[in-house]
Amino acid sequence: MGELVYLDHAATSWPKPPEVAAAMMDALQNSGANAGRGNHSLAIGAGRVMVRARNKLAELFSVSNAQDIAFTQNTTMGLNMAIKGTLQPGDHVITTMTEHNSVRRPLEFLRQTLGISIDYIQVDPEGQVDLLELQRTFRTDTKMMICNHSSNLLGSILPIGEIGDIAKSKGALFLVDAAQSAGSLIIDVKKMNIDLLAFPGHKGLLGPQGTGGLYIAPELDLIPLMQGGTGSQSENSGQPNVRPDRYEAGTQNGVGIAGLLAGVTKIMSLGPGNIHRQEWELTQKLMEGLSVVPGIRLLGPKLGSERSGIVSFVVEGQDSAEIAHRLDRKYNIAVRAGMHCTPLAHKAAYTLESGAVRASVGVTSTEEDVDRMVAAMLEMYGATSVG
Ligand code: ALA
Repeated sequence: MGELVYLDHAATSWPKPPEVAAAMMDALQNSGANAGRGNHSLAIGAGRVMVRARNKLAELFSVSNAQDIAFTQNTTMGLNMAIKGTLQPGDHVITTMTEHNSVRRPLEFLRQTLGISIDYIQVDPEGQVDLLELQRTFRTDTKMMICNHSSNLLGSILPIGEIGDIAKSKGALFLVDAAQSAGSLIIDVKKMNIDLLAFPGHKGLLGPQGTGGLYIAPELDLIPLMQGGTGSQSENSGQPNVRPDRYEAGTQNGVGIAGLLAGVTKIMSLGPGNIHRQEWELTQKLMEGLSVVPGIRLLGPKLGSERSGIVSFVVEGQDSAEIAHRLDRKYNIAVRAGMHCTPLAHKAAYTLESGAVRASVGVTSTEEDVDRMVAAMLEMYGATSVG
């Protein structure tokens, strides 16, 4: 069967660099106290790790003041903080059909509870939005534009620099979901006019699950999603205004953040642009190889176009969950299948009924991984196969 071929990096990158595990072990054994909750050396040491991680993330995303980044458990938490901390009754929001449920569900919740209104911009079969249509959708009461940098189903990359310019010219806030791009695509919050950036620690940044963050532009004052202890201004019954405490109630994931620091350090030494190029080449090889499978339909951008490390597909007459199951059991290849928490993107790709198989590459993926995946698909569904 061969060694495991892991092609599910869009869900969680794996394996992690050895430095990540070592940093987490070191934090557990040598600095595992509670950051910001004590003046003893161990607590101070834990606090230093958090400061270094925050600074590293600020460098990665061109954030001037690291205090404008709050740690979160994942991207979903950051998106909820941004959406629920900003929107008021009657606000209008624009987003796209490629959004994950981590955007759509909080928005639909606020539609029910606050009466916000939402426009979902259509996407073409390659997952792109029409920027003129986007411009025309803004209204005087549009409070926020929200989009992902890259679709978790289609792998399309949205032009967030141009979308940020449009949002700014219309006086709306711009929230970016970087779940599938942080670590591989270049993100500059200043140049791209990004007011809020939600990102995961456990995907392209190579950290552990349970880590992530939200950049909040300095002029914004979000209503915190949670109130509670911060280790600061304890006599004050209100949540402190000082950042990042305002948005970080409760004990933080110090061990996870130590791992995240090691992951981001690794990413920055490799260079996000280089990582993207390597991943793109692997996706092209994979698409070329898969394209000869009878009845296959590859989703998202065409061969040769920009995309993230995601290649999703359907095979006519075959169940996507069954394909993934056979890849796993017979060939030791891990992919994700079915619905990918993004029903409107499935609708745009005509896969709402069938679901889709998603192979996603990451930093550790190799040409051999791609060859194994293509060979397995050809063996199972190739012309000579009984299917
Ligand atoms: N949102 C992650 C994915 O697309 C988990 O798989």
